[in-house]
Amino acid sequence: MAKIFAIESSCDETACAIINDKLEIESSVVTSQIDVHSRFGGVIPEVASRMHIEQISVMVKEGLNNQKVEDMDAIAYTIGPGLIGSLHIGAAAAKTLAFFYNKPLIGVHHLRGHIFVNELIEPLTYPLLALVVSGGHTELVYMRDEDSFEILGTTQDDAIGEAYDKVARILNLEYPGGPKIDKLSKLGKPHYRLPTPKVDGYNFSFSGLKNACLQLEQRLKRNGEELIGEDLAYAFQEVALHHLLDKTLKVMNDYEVKHVLIAGGVACNSRLRELMSENIKDAKLTLPPLKYCTDNATMIGVAAFKEFNRQRFVSLDASSMPSMPIDK
Ligand code: KG4
Ligand code: ZN
Repeated sequence: MAKIFAIESSCDETACAIINDKLEIESSVVTSQIDVHSRFGGVIPEVASRMHIEQISVMVKEGLNNQKVEDMDAIAYTIGPGLIGSLHIGAAAAKTLAFFYNKPLIGVHHLRGHIFVNELIEPLTYPLLALVVSGGHTELVYMRDEDSFEILGTTQDDAIGEAYDKVARILNLEYPGGPKIDKLSKLGKPHYRLPTPKVDGYNFSFSGLKNACLQLEQRLKRNGEELIGEDLAYAFQEVALHHLLDKTLKVMNDYEVKHVLIAGGVACNSRLRELMSENIKDAKLTLPPLKYCTDNATMIGVAAFKEFNRQRFVSLDASSMPSMPIDK
């Protein structure tokens, strides 16, 4: 049975996992730096790199879970996209293991990991449409088969998670703001009206919406009126998530789609999950469990098997890529 040892370090989680070719998770450990970054109001790249350095050896040891590197068939790591300093730490660890134990090395695209982890829930059916929504990405990825990735739509400014985090700051909520807005909005009422983003094709835009939130807050302050936090959270979330839904439905109207899935940190959002369940008809829908939405190494291991099966390996001098198209 083939086994892959996988490492993820692209942002603020350091994670390791062992996955076998039956897609069984033999071990999976994740440590998050969120508590540290929340003090600064967002991920500070330099701090993230330093914390990965502190964590990586411990996580490799724990991730191996008493198994031997000798027994692995390949070492996989996130090659991009992500914070370059953070990516380097995972790459250095993976390359050291691959070199020392003479194992093939697999460089995994982070977003492919977010997509393919859904195979742990159910088989993927093609053509497939993945709505990838995270702190750094908002993408509609169309896959005719498991080796074809076409970005039909992407954000023209902020990523959806970034917009959540910025609006959270207006509401004095700590980073990461997404889960807090998700919770707060449940108490909110339709009270404030915010503009629906207008963007061509299957693309997205969130900066106008974010600015509208800021302007509303400033106007109320000038007028000596109180901002009702839960109502702003509600209004922002409804507009932002309907924007995601509308573009997803537009693709489904124009393309053959047999399977829809959501992926990335914002896929944890309870209202997004509800909207998708209510509105995605005529296609299979996968809403991954929350532990697979946020960054982890299991997803890197699952995506690594796609490369392993095609014998697509990278060399020890492979460069990590902070921005990296999903089709490369
Ligand atoms: O995928 P992820 O863990 O890291 C990146 O690769 O970016 O996503 C993190 C993002 C943050 O912006 C966070 O605020 C957002 O996902 N997020 C949420 C929720 N949980 C996490 N956004 C909205 N609702 C949530 N429940
Ligand atoms: Zn991610």
